[in-house]
Amino acid sequence: MENRVEEVLRALEGEEFLVEPQRLRRLVEVLLRRQKDLVLFSENVKNEHNFSAIIRTCDAVGVLNVYYTYEGNKQKIYNEHITMGSHKWVFLHRVQSAVETLRRFKEKGFQVVATRLVGRSVHFREVDYTKPTVVVVGNELEGVSEEVAELADHNVVIPMYGMAQSLNVSVATAVILYEAERQRSAKGLYDRPQLSLEEIKRILRKWAYEDVILDRKR
Ligand SMILES: C[S@@+](CC[C@H](N)C(=O)[O-])C[C@H]1O[C@@H](n2cnc3c(N)ncnc32)[C@H](O)[C@@H]1O
Repeated sequence: MENRVEEVLRALEGEEFLVEPQRLRRLVEVLLRRQKDLVLFSENVKNEHNFSAIIRTCDAVGVLNVYYTYEGNKQKIYNEHITMGSHKWVFLHRVQSAVETLRRFKEKGFQVVATRLVGRSVHFREVDYTKPTVVVVGNELEGVSEEVAELADHNVVIPMYGMAQSLNVSVATAVILYEAERQRSAKGLYDRPQLSLEEIKRILRKWAYEDVILDRKR
């Protein structure tokens, strides 16, 4: 991985960035470990604490893209103090229809894994998360919708042995994503960069140039 970092840094020579060299190196290291084929879909999670904690976990596990539907009326459903800045390193895509978005992922070869507490769900560790995967988590009260559960390749449950029927949605997200991380790191997927040099350059132009300018203007 160290060689790959050096290679990318050499390929970036001549580009203008507005961050210190150490910061640029860190961003390159992060991008080389991003799991482009592990996506999180949040179906109408409404609480900003929950959504923010989900984003923070996605960044930690190497998820680059989070898709979400949101039926509330807030402009922004995350809080910078809770994401601890990690919303900057994960791309958030708000979509109108969960079903249509997930169908498109399936057409591209992704499996859809819906987290659900109902009877036909299988234990979450039975799924192979090293395949291109979209993990779906649901609304705090209603859970994942029937339509999404129907189109999912797997419905999974995290066993509950106490009195509470369910986990907080951000905790459930972390449990599933860290199972994905366990399986993927065992297969060496974090040592095999998924983003092309062109994609890395495009993202760095945003993170280490455009966003810095925007931050300075704030
Ligand atoms: C508070 S739960 C929703 C509870 C809702 N009454 C239901 O039946 O789904 C919010 C979300 O967290 C996730 N979740 C919580 N506990 C879970 C568990 N034990 N297994 C799988 N997913 C879980 C699911 O994504 C769920 O949609």
